[in-house]
Amino acid sequence: MNCITLKDVSYKYPYTEDFVLANINYQFEKGKFYGIIGPNGSGKTTFCNLLRGMIPHFFHGDLSGDVLIEGQDVRDWNSDLLSTKIGYIFQNPFTQISGIKETVFEEIALGLENLGVEKEELIERVVEVVKLLKLEKLIKKNPNNLSGGQKQRVAFASIIAMNSDILVIDEPTSQLDPESTDEIFKIINLLKEQGKTIFLVEHKIDLIAEYADEVIVLNQGQIARSGLTADVLSDLSLLQMGVTLPQATLLSYDLQKIDKAIDTISITKSQVKDQIMKRVGV
Ligand SMILES: Nc1ncnc2c1ncn2[C@@H]1O[C@H](COP(=O)(O)OP(=O)(O)OP(=O)(O)O)[C@@H](O)[C@H]1O
Ligand SMILES: [Mg+2]
Repeated sequence: MNCITLKDVSYKYPYTEDFVLANINYQFEKGKFYGIIGPNGSGKTTFCNLLRGMIPHFFHGDLSGDVLIEGQDVRDWNSDLLSTKIGYIFQNPFTQISGIKETVFEEIALGLENLGVEKEELIERVVEVVKLLKLEKLIKKNPNNLSGGQKQRVAFASIIAMNSDILVIDEPTSQLDPESTDEIFKIINLLKEQGKTIFLVEHKIDLIAEYADEVIVLNQGQIARSGLTADVLSDLSLLQMGVTLPQATLLSYDLQKIDKAIDTISITKSQVKDQIMKRVGV
């Protein structure tokens, strides 16, 4: 089932000359995990704003083409309803923290409170995400005093608590160490397994290779490449665009040069390992 459909979409912010997104066509299916990658300034955050209806409901400017969310034109959606249907995690966690709540627990509950969720259910849902994100030690702390990484996890928790069908996540791990990054990816994958549709902007390409179903590469506001993760992330021409490829992809190409050591290009470490094992007969 289609979740979001984009037909010939172009967009220009108010008071600017150039289109930031141009001629975008794509059909996003419900329940899939989409990785969005591209060089700095290629339009990834703007693309997120389009997917979650902030364009045109909050950002005005010129929008042309069709943006259909569950079959209905974005312009006809009620913007409050959209914000509950589509959860958004900001690129910068510092902007996500409300600044009006004194504890992490209240901060995570804020979105639910605004939705008018009953107290008992609210507490239950907050406790559940606190456990999921291992935030137990932080719940009594003031959100304003947390580190960047802790803020990022709290922001993530408050969005998960809302239980939206679609999640648009803009670089959620920029402030996190490798271990916490892995944890966040595992949680995103869990949310996908629960049937949610995920859009994730992320520079950590090895993790996109492991988890995303499809990848969209943006370059200068256009979709430069798109499709199944394994196809897109084995395309060496992306390097010229300034897009990083997974370590495993580069290693695969090197191994192929050496006496055709492996027969197919792999994009994750475990796949390369399997290929080598097969080759050496283990
Ligand atoms: N609110 C805005 N008003 C006008 N121009 C904007 C606005 N936000 C972004 N832009 C411009 O749109 C282009 C794309 O920006 P965007 O933030 O979408 O890219 P990005 O791929 O997310 O970049 P990054 O990798 O740095 O996060 C840039 O040229 C940027 O200057
Ligand atoms: Mg961005």
